[in-house]
Amino acid sequence: MPIRHPIIAGNWKMNKTIREAQDYAARLLGLLGEITEIDVVVCAPFTALSTLKDELEESVIHIGAQDMSFASNGAYTGEISADMLVDTACTYVIIGHSERREILRETDDDIAKKVKAALKAGLTPILCVGENLAQREERKAFAVVRSQVEKDLTELAPADLKRVVIAYEPIWAIGTGKSATSADAQEMCTMIRSTLAGIAGAVADEVNILYGGSVNADTIAELMAQPDVDGALVGGASLDPEGFAQLVLKAVTAL
Ligand code: PGA
Repeated sequence: MPIRHPIIAGNWKMNKTIREAQDYAARLLGLLGEITEIDVVVCAPFTALSTLKDELEESVIHIGAQDMSFASNGAYTGEISADMLVDTACTYVIIGHSERREILRETDDDIAKKVKAALKAGLTPILCVGENLAQREERKAFAVVRSQVEKDLTELAPADLKRVVIAYEPIWAIGTGKSATSADAQEMCTMIRSTLAGIAGAVADEVNILYGGSVNADTIAELMAQPDVDGALVGGASLDPEGFAQLVLKAVTAL
């Protein structure tokens, strides 16, 4: 009996109007409405979430957001709280995506607070970690990722830690068409699992670790075959519902 249930999450990033989201959800539901071997998650912009709630709440497809505030409420103009996400039937939230770390200067301290707030509200955080090209070339990738994992998950009890999903996303692979090899993905995911074991012991074996960065329908099967890769976070290849469904179905056949 496997202890980890695989996850494929689509990250739309800053794409799709409400109308486009509604059309996407209806089409995806038609294609993946019976899939239970993998948890399928659609991470949409805040403005599309209540439409996805109407379309998907009663289905097997999960709804996710792409960020949230570390605060629960109050004077934080422009922010969205974990409880607001729960209100739109979100069960997942991406935290610490490299685009937010790099463009919006999110720190590990901010990210650690967001992870805690997500867990407190009952959401599953998808914590993104990953090195940039210079760090990989300088052979610092392991140290960078280990440090992110340790800082972002600091002070979590094992019972909380096992509810976190980690996405290893090397920055040089995101949106570039240049995916990490499945062997590189496996190597880093193994390192992440052993870091988790150092923090929280045996529950590390229950944590889902995804790979992200130019994943597509041609690469997913080999990634899923790696023992420490439990699924994928998919950007560009999740934008078209037919293409995303094809990717998920290929992942199912690779299980
Ligand atoms: P990509 O994006 O699949 O387009 O490389 C992945 C991500 O940023 O989550």
